[in-house]
Amino acid sequence: MRMKRLRSIGWTAVVLGTAALLCSCRTAGLGAGTREAKAKMDVTVESFGQTADGQQVRIYHLTNSNGLKAGIMTYGATVVSLEVPDKNGQLGDIVLGYDNLQAYIRNSPYFGTIVGRYGNRIGKGKFTLDGTEYTLATNNGENHLHGGLKGFDKVVWTDEPVRRSDAVGVKFGYVSKDGEEGYPGTLKGTVTYLLTNKNELRIEYVATTDKPTPVNLTHHGYWNLTGGRRDILEHVLTLNAGKFTPVDKGLIPTGELPAVKGTVMDFTRPTAIGARIESDFEQIKSGGGYDHNWVLNKGGKDMTLAARVYEPTSGRVMEVFTKEPGVQFYSGNFLDGTITGKGGTIYQHRWGFCLETQHYPDSPNKPQFPTTILRPGRKYETATVYRFSVK
Ligand code: BGC
Repeated sequence: MRMKRLRSIGWTAVVLGTAALLCSCRTAGLGAGTREAKAKMDVTVESFGQTADGQQVRIYHLTNSNGLKAGIMTYGATVVSLEVPDKNGQLGDIVLGYDNLQAYIRNSPYFGTIVGRYGNRIGKGKFTLDGTEYTLATNNGENHLHGGLKGFDKVVWTDEPVRRSDAVGVKFGYVSKDGEEGYPGTLKGTVTYLLTNKNELRIEYVATTDKPTPVNLTHHGYWNLTGGRRDILEHVLTLNAGKFTPVDKGLIPTGELPAVKGTVMDFTRPTAIGARIESDFEQIKSGGGYDHNWVLNKGGKDMTLAARVYEPTSGRVMEVFTKEPGVQFYSGNFLDGTITGKGGTIYQHRWGFCLETQHYPDSPNKPQFPTTILRPGRKYETATVYRFSVK
């Protein structure tokens, strides 16, 4: 990638070596609901430090024509910040994370990362494919979680800027070697983040393999539409899902797909996340809150609405669209006040929630679930869009 040194601000600041990335208009105020002069669509990149083994990490700064901003780094292909306006036009950072790379490396519960090769759990870290049993790294009790000990969230991705007529972005690449974390086959993957002028964060995933292997990539953003001011219990959630996958004590799906109707898992109507989270319903009591995969109502592989979240104090709305058949709604149950995040904010219990679009957990061991096996000659291709507006 061709980059030009711009100036030094402690980190090495660089700007992409093409004036074409900048349009001529000036950044304007955001103005709630009004169409003021356009902001400058922009993509710049600068150093974000280095890993212990000396790999350089970069952060991309994206700005769309409405002034929304994203900071996305090459370590874990991680969304470090995402600033969107509230109902008064005030930008607020709506994702949890850290101010610096070292904190991400030290201890991050997947804040804003891409998760792979397999998002969520594979029971006992084992599966059988075409008659061969594979053993994966176990990192969650006896189970395999989010790709293992060193998943896609803990590697440095290759990077290149993306500019489209309606969006700016960054395309990341990673080659996962045959046998990595126990998975068969060399998997070549790309993940492209786009900040569109429709106020969307769009994520496009592509992968190919040279041996059959399970693949289930997702984005693990922790959202807090208040801008991180309080917990997420007042956020009003709607899930376009009539069924869910119940789990056992180790959070492995039992294989059943019961209807949500008549249970606290029913978010088909807008409901505050906190409204029923302390209920006695065994599924959420044993897991300490919501931490399940919902089965989306969809007919095919097209992009469909998965979820809508409204936060009343800020007026912010987030809608999630995906090609995936499921979404993991995790209510931040394992956040317990021991993490101090961006700007010194202590992330208390349920300070963020995740909506991880995905195939169902443990699919390699559940023949009745949609398959997650990618074979040589086939292309894994999926996309998810997080769209922001105000009400
Ligand atoms: C899982 C949770 C886990 C969290 C952070 C979610 O996808 O379902 O059980 O604690 O990720 O690792």
